[in-house]
Amino acid sequence: MNALIQVQGLEKSFGDQQVLRDVDFTATAGTVTVLLGPSGSGKTTVLRSLNVLETPESGLVRIGDASIDFGSPPTDKATYRRAVKALRARSGMVFQSHNLFPHKTVLGNLIEGPVQVQGRDPEEATAAARELLDQVGLSGREDAYPSQLSGGQQQRVGIARALALKPEVLLLDEPTSALDPELVGEVLSVIRDLAAENWTLVIVTHEVRFARDVADQVLFLDGGVVAERGGAEVLTEPREERTQRFLARMLDAG
Ligand SMILES: Nc1ncnc2c1ncn2[C@@H]1O[C@H](COP(=O)(O)OP(=O)(O)OP(=O)(O)O)[C@@H](O)[C@H]1O
Ligand SMILES: [Mg+2]
Repeated sequence: MNALIQVQGLEKSFGDQQVLRDVDFTATAGTVTVLLGPSGSGKTTVLRSLNVLETPESGLVRIGDASIDFGSPPTDKATYRRAVKALRARSGMVFQSHNLFPHKTVLGNLIEGPVQVQGRDPEEATAAARELLDQVGLSGREDAYPSQLSGGQQQRVGIARALALKPEVLLLDEPTSALDPELVGEVLSVIRDLAAENWTLVIVTHEVRFARDVADQVLFLDGGVVAERGGAEVLTEPREERTQRFLARMLDAG
């Protein structure tokens, strides 16, 4: 099957520090890709490159029919901007902390992008937002403000808000790592449901047990390189010593 996500030969430096080296992977529609690796290994930079929040020096990023070859991008500025916009429209991003608009209600947060950015009909966007809130277990809370919600609820609104833009792919960067331990489960459970509904997900997570359950593909990054890759067996029977050491530390900590 044709891959929905294709990343090829991604190279990214900050100043003279190279943080991604020849990163490659593909993901088919409906699959879950888990990125893990030590702090500073480049996981966030991979996600941000998929969404063109970072501009790699070279390499190809393609999601669906939108792509940019960063090694030889369109030279015409307007063409490049269109390509960036097209690629961004295909993914939604969920960060460690939700960054909801504090002065908007839950519903306001969900319909802002669809109505203001995508120009969708407010009634249609509102109906879609209510459905998404139901999906993340928050129907009835549409009029609450973010400060009136728990961290886990806020993060679930963050997921619903990303989905409200109808992306083809959802990118999640450590979606539970800023939460109190007792709130982690409710957010992981929402992500499990998305995986079961065949959303295409790319997740950075240190929740190894969760990752074992949902991962179709695992990429272990170390020093900006994909040091090991495979299916969920990478999490149970890693071949590389550095993957083994990393997982042992994670399981100890958890
Ligand atoms: N905007 C930036 N400017 C300079 N250096 C950066 C920038 N963003 C990231 N880096 C560096 O790039 C490297 C990779 O960072 P990245 O955030 O991708 O790692 P990570 O694997 O997500 O780490 P963590 O697990 O701590 O979130 C790190 O050495 C980091 O310091
Ligand atoms: Mg990170």
